[in-house]
Amino acid sequence: MERTFIMVKPDGVQRGLIGEIVSRFERKGFKLVAGKVMIISRKQAEFHYAEHSEKPFFGELVDFITSGPVFAMVWEGDDIISLSRLMIGKTKVADAQPGTIRGDYASHTNFNLVHGSDSPESAAREIGNMFEESDAVQFERAIEPWI
Ligand code: RTP
Ligand code: MG
Repeated sequence: MERTFIMVKPDGVQRGLIGEIVSRFERKGFKLVAGKVMIISRKQAEFHYAEHSEKPFFGELVDFITSGPVFAMVWEGDDIISLSRLMIGKTKVADAQPGTIRGDYASHTNFNLVHGSDSPESAAREIGNMFEESDAVQFERAIEPWI
């Protein structure tokens, strides 16, 4: 069982797409472990996007992700890291297939609505950057969501 960090970015929150995005992961059968509306600090944003720190668009990335509330979540499921990225769709908006979140709702690469971790190492870093251990749901569901 894997965990991943999924975040509705400020554009998705502003456009009222939290429910749509959450419901796609719910219907897929994944388990929501933690979630909160928050405004990310610049320090958290720079840590989150550290792999892009040398890129020319790094400043814009940090400005954008701190520009308003996000909805940060931890989701759990088998192979959730690769499956959630399939559901999110490709980074570049022209490559994002219809049926994916970005393919259905995003019309610009810089406003692509949702983030998903790209590896187990990224997921652990990103979850630790945004959540305390005590944020995780502390009970076992009686009925697992995929049954
Ligand atoms: P994310 O981290 O936000 O989930 O997106 P991703 O893995 O699909 O893409 P990544 O390569 O990590 O890039 C992070 C964000 O930077 C913006 N970007 N702009 N101008 C560009 O060529 C470019 N490339 C990436 C996108 O907003 C992307 O989500
Ligand atoms: Mg990424």
